Amino acid sequence: MADAPRTVLISGCSSGIGLELAVQLAHDHRQRYQVVATMRDLGKKGALEAAAGEALGQTLTVAQLDVCSDESVAQCLSCIQGGEVDVLVNNAGVGLVGPLEGLSLAAMQNVFDTNFFGAVRLVRAVLPGMKKRRKGHIVVVSSVMGLQGVVFNEVYAASKFALEGFFESLAVQLLQFNIFITLVEPGPVVTDFEGKLLEQVSTAEFPDTDPDTLHYFRDFYLPASRELFRSVGQSPQDVAQVIVKVISSPRPPLRRQTNARYTPLAALKAVDPSGSLYVRTSHRLLFRWTRFLNLGLRCLACGCLRIRIWPR
Ligand SMILES: NC(=O)c1ccc[n+]([C@@H]2O[C@H](COP(=O)([O-])OP(=O)(O)OC[C@H]3O[C@@H](n4cnc5c(N)ncnc54)[C@H](OP(=O)(O)O)[C@@H]3O)[C@@H](O)[C@H]2O)c1
Repeated sequence: MADAPRTVLISGCSSGIGLELAVQLAHDHRQRYQVVATMRDLGKKGALEAAAGEALGQTLTVAQLDVCSDESVAQCLSCIQGGEVDVLVNNAGVGLVGPLEGLSLAAMQNVFDTNFFGAVRLVRAVLPGMKKRRKGHIVVVSSVMGLQGVVFNEVYAASKFALEGFFESLAVQLLQFNIFITLVEPGPVVTDFEGKLLEQVSTAEFPDTDPDTLHYFRDFYLPASRELFRSVGQSPQDVAQVIVKVISSPRPPLRRQTNARYTPLAALKAVDPSGSLYVRTSHRLLFRWTRFLNLGLRCLACGCLRIRIWPR
């Protein structure tokens, strides 16, 4: 007899990775999942419903969930049949880029409230049930920026580092309850995320920021960031496919990067634990060897560099 479908609760399904993941799981040909696809603003559910097609109301339901609100979390969970979540995907997230001096503390706190405390709120809500049933899987959409800091993304990277430390610590206790944790670490993904950030940046004035820093941000960082997304950016469909594999695995890994073309950049930190190689190389590539950076990114995009870096 086939196992009963597992209930998968996903946050942040109005667009991007969350939307794609919800749709892919709901269309699983073996119908292994009942997807509760959530978003904070149900006014945005049109794109998800259109993509879900016939799965809507069958293997996929849409629900309201603002990860920054305790009441919203409680309300959402109370609407789930049987109240049981087998797989929780903490996907909702916001970005923040720009010179630190020009960002408000409120904007920084919002990043932590959404990216870090949003995940913590959800985990605390589903954990008692998972522990009682002695099974469950918590997937966290982290980032390669949870492993290495990126210039002008200090607060966003810090929120993802916080997730990595929190969930790595929790993973040890939860194994005792047969509950698995997986931190998924995408590189750049071409979703609304970057669009929203660039919109923020184009209207932001960054008060209290000196002209040199603004020049480095606008004339060095922003063009390099656009080139990075253009050359090695992944589609949300590709990232969702990786997460589907992780969810269907009987022994899910603690960490899973999604973008092989980004791995050489992530490896800079791994090969030199002192951190100097990563910081100095990033600095040179951004501020001194800009042409080499663009060339390198194009090589990563076409795959020629990968042949030398990856062992066969
Ligand atoms: N795109 C990338 O390059 C990239 C790379 C690595 C990791 N990630 C991570 O991937 C995850 C998904 O991002 P994405 O690229 O798919 O971007 P996206 O299309 O902007 O999706 C982000 C989702 O989070 C939702 N959200 C924001 N604040 C929320 C809140 N308080 N409560 C509930 N939902 C909230 C957004 O809802 P609204 O529509 O209401 O804003 C949206 O549905 C994020 O955690 C992000 O940090 C992204």
